Amino acid sequence: MDQKNSKKPIYSRFSQQELPAWKPILSPGWAIASFITIGAVFIPIGFLAWSASDAVVEIVDRYDEACVPDDYSANPESFIQNPHIKKTCIRSLKVPKKLVAPIFVYYQLENFYQNHHEDNKPIVPCGLIAWSLFNDTYKLSTKGGKQKISIHKKDISWKSDREAKFGSNVYPKNFQKHGLRGGATLDHTIPLSEQEDLIVWMRTAALPKFRKLYGKITETDIEAHDTINVEIENNYNTYKFGGRKTLVLSTTTWVGGKNDFLGMAYICVGGISLFVAINFILLYVFRPRRLGDPSYLSWNRHPIN
Ligand SMILES: *[C@@H]1O[C@H](CO)[C@@H](O)[C@H](O)[C@H]1NC(C)=O
Repeated sequence: MDQKNSKKPIYSRFSQQELPAWKPILSPGWAIASFITIGAVFIPIGFLAWSASDAVVEIVDRYDEACVPDDYSANPESFIQNPHIKKTCIRSLKVPKKLVAPIFVYYQLENFYQNHHEDNKPIVPCGLIAWSLFNDTYKLSTKGGKQKISIHKKDISWKSDREAKFGSNVYPKNFQKHGLRGGATLDHTIPLSEQEDLIVWMRTAALPKFRKLYGKITETDIEAHDTINVEIENNYNTYKFGGRKTLVLSTTTWVGGKNDFLGMAYICVGGISLFVAINFILLYVFRPRRLGDPSYLSWNRHPIN
């Protein structure tokens, strides 16, 4: 027959479903062995991840309320919006366990919907998210302020963002120049690809509670039982919408920051696998079904023994 006019597809092993396939026969022994293997691999990994997360030292300090002077506590907005009041605020943080560098400095915002848009007015030149750039700043020291701890702001953003998303020849010329100030200003002599605070901020958070990297402490460890003095410029207006502001210092291990969930998830999955394996063993050893005997499935079956 003429191949061209035929409706038949051209022969191939794929169209004829003749490719080799793996069809495991899940015999009881096989199933039990796989569940035991999963359990034996996952449970130790889970405990390792959990203990690594446990070794992370984290210092968390919520300061939005504490950094409003008492006279203004009933109306914090009048404080934050008044340019004539100094916004500096000193906090002291106890160090429970030694912080080994690199120490990561984050700000955490809560009840902050970074991906919501409020009205339809265009905000030039970069839009609402950029316009609302976070503008609190932190200075750290120990030994009663005698020993400054420098926070490095380089390499806090994604390398791919710096290289591909934010132009190295784009300068923020008109930023925060139109009417109401929404947040931090940018130095218009520095190209966007080097404005790392903005780049970090523009990785928009999906949830109303999020942490963003502020900087890194790379040179000094901070000893246990020291007191860290934090000098905060409390500029950012979260009072308008009841948002909370928190400073977080954290060390890292191979699991990253503090994250108990990862370890727990591994332990749970491993535990469930082992549990299923044990049940299969009990069933298979004590109430086995003869393989290939369908009479077992019928309603009025004879007892096996
Ligand atoms: C910081 O941002 C707020 C808005 O949240 C703004 O009102 C204030 O002027 C800004 N202050 C500085 C110093 O950038």
